[in-house]
Amino acid sequence: TVYNNYFYDEPVYDLHDGGYVPLEHADVPEQPLNVPAVLKPDKVDGNDVWYTIRAQAGETQILPGQKTKTWGYNASLLGQTIVLKDGVHYHVHIVNDLPEVTTLHWHGLNIPGPITDGGPHAPVYPGKSRDIEFTLNQPAQTDWIHPHPCPNTARQVWQGLAAAVVVTDDIEGKLPFPRDYGVDDIPVVLQDRSYHDNQLDYDADYDMDGTLGKYMLVNGTINGVFDVTTQRVRLRMLNGADRREYRLHFSDDHEFTQIASDGGVLPEPVQMKKVMLTAAERAEVIVDFGDYKPGDRVQLMTDDMPVMTFAIGDFERDDTVLPAHLVDIEDWQPTPGLPVEKTVMSGMDDEVLLDGKLFDMQRIDRRQQVGTVVDWDVTNTNEMDGGMIHPFHMHGCHFLILSRNGHAPYPNEHGFKDTVGVNAGETVRIRVKFDVLGVFMYHCHILEHEDTGMMAQIEAYDPDQPQTYHLLSMDDL
Ligand code: C2O
Ligand code: CU
Ligand code: CU
Repeated sequence: TVYNNYFYDEPVYDLHDGGYVPLEHADVPEQPLNVPAVLKPDKVDGNDVWYTIRAQAGETQILPGQKTKTWGYNASLLGQTIVLKDGVHYHVHIVNDLPEVTTLHWHGLNIPGPITDGGPHAPVYPGKSRDIEFTLNQPAQTDWIHPHPCPNTARQVWQGLAAAVVVTDDIEGKLPFPRDYGVDDIPVVLQDRSYHDNQLDYDADYDMDGTLGKYMLVNGTINGVFDVTTQRVRLRMLNGADRREYRLHFSDDHEFTQIASDGGVLPEPVQMKKVMLTAAERAEVIVDFGDYKPGDRVQLMTDDMPVMTFAIGDFERDDTVLPAHLVDIEDWQPTPGLPVEKTVMSGMDDEVLLDGKLFDMQRIDRRQQVGTVVDWDVTNTNEMDGGMIHPFHMHGCHFLILSRNGHAPYPNEHGFKDTVGVNAGETVRIRVKFDVLGVFMYHCHILEHEDTGMMAQIEAYDPDQPQTYHLLSMDDL
């Protein structure tokens, strides 16, 4: 089967309220797609690796003329790609060279909370640094880092803070996937921005239901072109937008194969012509350019707007066929005797709530014992004006998607996830297990909803290892 469907409920996509900003074509010459460099370790010693990640301000040539003032991680905009390996022990020195407090959140890494994980309890004050360490214990996947200081996450991401994290392991390493970074394996960080005399102006563009930009960027490039020099190219697509969903397809409806979602490789490859990503979701796809000839061009689109261009060059024939089965997904069985957890995302604009409440940094909203498997019903009650999708994200764990309103999950939802788009009026049942201790956030990943308070905290606990957490308050940020 080749799916030709976004799967999501069409009406909730862009009819959410009066504030929707359609994408426009940017009158900017084509330019080579920015492919961020891979961050080099400061030091490697056996199984220990040291990195420095510096949040910094800079200037970036995005539009012709004046450069744009932007923020990034070890770069003026976005950041260098961090490549990590399962089983390795990492030491990370986080430096804040910005004029305000920030945090460094590892979206998709199952590492202890609330400090290592980098949520709002782990501020790095301006001019200061913080050191964390963790042993990575999870499968290959595409994750990302972004700031998480309450309530300024959305503005800091808008300013440019976000970078791809590539997790590798030995299982994925043996699959016949392209993995030559920058050549046939690239991050595709999808964002939208508007500019005012070439500058960002978050306050001017702010929308409580998620700030939208007029122009489409990939890895910070408008009208980017990637030169295809191999028949198969792996795109690590990441929705890094504050709010916008991307409905991706090629200009000629060329098919592609999704091989991984947020939590790693899918059990089976999924052939498709369309894929939708809600905020913070990832999809790794392989595009086979074998039926093009040198000089051909094809565009990746979101709806009717070009996202970026692939310029086909010469390449050697590659007849690699993907196996029908890629990886085994652990069969989690719910721990007997535990009720289904229920969580509700409701409202729009300034009325957004999670479980009827606004976020409180000093309140732990629920607890789940590490190692137990619990089903959660995640409901989006919102049906105002046709409603809108809330992408539900959990820190510190991955989950399986069991059903959507009692129906089977979408065909590309058979692997592990950490973010799931929940349609208006829908209940998504997920199966959740924590392996690491901590206080973790769970929230809507429309960043303005998160900043307004559509967020809560769960403690993943172990009765044999009681912890005490010093929870900060918003005044500490
Ligand atoms: Cu992308 Cu709370 O995270
Ligand atoms: Cu996260
Ligand atoms: Cu939301």
